[in-house]
Amino acid sequence: MSERDILVETRDLTKRYGSRIVAVDRVSLTVRRGEVYGFLGPNGAGKTTTMRMLLGLIRPSLGAASVLGRSPGHPESLTRIGALVESPAFYPYLSGRDNLRVIARYAGVSKERIAEVLDLVDLTDRARDKFATYSSGMKQRLGVAAALLKDPELLILDEPTNGLDPAGVADMRDLIRSLGSGERSVLLSSHMLGEVEQICDRVGVISRGRLIAESTVEELRGKGALLVDAKPLNRARERVEQLLGAERVEVLDGTLRLDADPAAAGRINRELVGANIEVTELRPVERKLEEVFLEMTDQKGESYVG
Ligand SMILES: Nc1ncnc2c1ncn2[C@@H]1O[C@H](COP(=O)(O)OP(=O)(O)O)[C@@H](O)[C@H]1O
Ligand SMILES: [Mg+2]
Repeated sequence: MSERDILVETRDLTKRYGSRIVAVDRVSLTVRRGEVYGFLGPNGAGKTTTMRMLLGLIRPSLGAASVLGRSPGHPESLTRIGALVESPAFYPYLSGRDNLRVIARYAGVSKERIAEVLDLVDLTDRARDKFATYSSGMKQRLGVAAALLKDPELLILDEPTNGLDPAGVADMRDLIRSLGSGERSVLLSSHMLGEVEQICDRVGVISRGRLIAESTVEELRGKGALLVDAKPLNRARERVEQLLGAERVEVLDGTLRLDADPAAAGRINRELVGANIEVTELRPVERKLEEVFLEMTDQKGESYVG
């Protein structure tokens, strides 16, 4: 992969506070051009700290990061990055549009662009209303609009759905998906698996400062399994054991659980039917990403994973 296609690369990025707190611990991650990258982890895992280092807001204690080919905070790359980290400060008594005008003026952005970003985040109809009257979803979307003013190549969004109601979450999810198409990349943090699962190309899972996985959502979830109900069950079992090997076949509650790719369902069905075994049910079971995540981050029973 050429350098042009890698927008963010960190190597052993580390942030310590004092001698006891390691907020980010040797994180090495890569964000590619045109992808939505989900940075996933429970509260306190080190997501915000990592993002602040990428933006040059705080300095790493150890390790290195390259953002758009430069060190974090380099003026040239900052003009190509839009960020929403922590709640943006808007003037409550100015309209949404006037708030954007204030930002656009010092960022040297055209008036036309203000109308474009309002449209992108679906706030055109409410652009004349005071910020104070906006719902939390609208406030967040205005924050995204502000981050989009410079038409950035990289958009860094720190938990943009925090505090939103389900409708607001759904709107934000659609928005992020539309923003992450084409050339632009989105680095999106979340502690809610559901969001990441649906809109991200790849995810990095962080727990207690350590990046414990980086992969596509599919890879993270694993291949899954097949459940087979058949009569007679013992003959079905023998047959699939011949096909797959005994170690990949289990009997659970009177059902066969096969460690096999769901894509193999058709072949297995044909084999059983061909051996005069009646297949009453055959369906794939996917491990829910949530289970995988809880297992990995060792947070079983905690309630903050949505
Ligand atoms: N300025 C700071 N001083 C001391 N500890 C901090 C500071 N900022 C963050 N931390 C600690 O670093 C860890 C990671 O925090 P953070 O990056 O905010 O996590 P997340 O964004 O994933 O919820 C937490 O334990 C937090 O308390
Ligand atoms: Mg955070």
